[in-house]
Amino acid sequence: SPRAHKRMTKKDLATKYILPDVLKFVTGNTSSWTFDYKALAQKRFDLERTCNARNHFFVTKKNIPLGSSLRYDVSNTTVKVNNTLFDTFPTAIPFADKMFPRCAVVGSSGILMDSGCGREIDSSDFVIRFNMAPVGGRFRADVGSKVDIVTVNGDSIKSRYDKLETNISRTMFAAYVRQYNRNTLLWSVPFTSLTHTAYVLRTYQVLKKAGAPQAVVFANPGYMACTNTYWRQRGFTRAPRLSTGMFLTSAALQFCEEVYLYGFWPFPVDTAGNVLPYHYYSKGQRGRLNKWHKMDDEYVNLMELHKKGILHLQTDKCR
Ligand code: CDP
Repeated sequence: SPRAHKRMTKKDLATKYILPDVLKFVTGNTSSWTFDYKALAQKRFDLERTCNARNHFFVTKKNIPLGSSLRYDVSNTTVKVNNTLFDTFPTAIPFADKMFPRCAVVGSSGILMDSGCGREIDSSDFVIRFNMAPVGGRFRADVGSKVDIVTVNGDSIKSRYDKLETNISRTMFAAYVRQYNRNTLLWSVPFTSLTHTAYVLRTYQVLKKAGAPQAVVFANPGYMACTNTYWRQRGFTRAPRLSTGMFLTSAALQFCEEVYLYGFWPFPVDTAGNVLPYHYYSKGQRGRLNKWHKMDDEYVNLMELHKKGILHLQTDKCR
């Protein structure tokens, strides 16, 4: 951990923990950056015909018929779509035909602390966030408060909400969700790992019972599997699986004219060598050592997409 190196200067820490190419990129002059709409259109076209998010981003009554069997994308299993399960699916993807001018995809890195990016993020037409990240209040200046999609992580339902097995945890979950806009979709992942299925599906019932305006939708495992293969085949990561950030960025590239990424910074220090928490809303490094992802790999490739003008990767403070 970077804290253990008491005798190293901050500059040494930055050099030790940030990939050389990344350091060069971030500290270099990026003032002349623009979108390359031609390269972007090509990428969008390629994504849409390979792993189409407009039709398959999450499970709906349209893309998963009653009576079909749904194949998980990690666990080697299927689930039969009976009436009870089918009833929980929305009729369609509400924004299937929309093209949002400007989208913000807000990763949860500690780099967002003191970034002042809240206003810019909130002025976007569509905002995507992760793992039930907190918004507004003391976070407003740095991350804003607008949320159109927020992902729900099975591990967090388990660790923060006791798998929603008790009344108190259900009440706490419903109360927590109230901070999000009424139209927020909670994009959950019940059909990836069989161990999470029961309590991830429970998030739907709990919010429904609480009369919450926000709806829970279920990631389409077909879309997940396809997207994972798509980026892996193009060398995006050596890890078996992409981070949630990449699954959602891949969808944003299809639904948005322009994609702006904030809070993507998997390194434990900033470029000045200051130690950062893994998440902007927590103190520690919890979550950093996820053997599934290889976020350094992903970062280098996001940097390449930025250089090509396909998306904008925010690396500075916003003021
Ligand atoms: O566990 P999961 O990746 O679903 O959620 P998270 O830890 O809340 O992070 C959300 C996303 O933000 C990740 O998937 C990464 O793409 C990005 N992230 C990052 O780039 N750097 C960090 N220090 C933390 C998150």
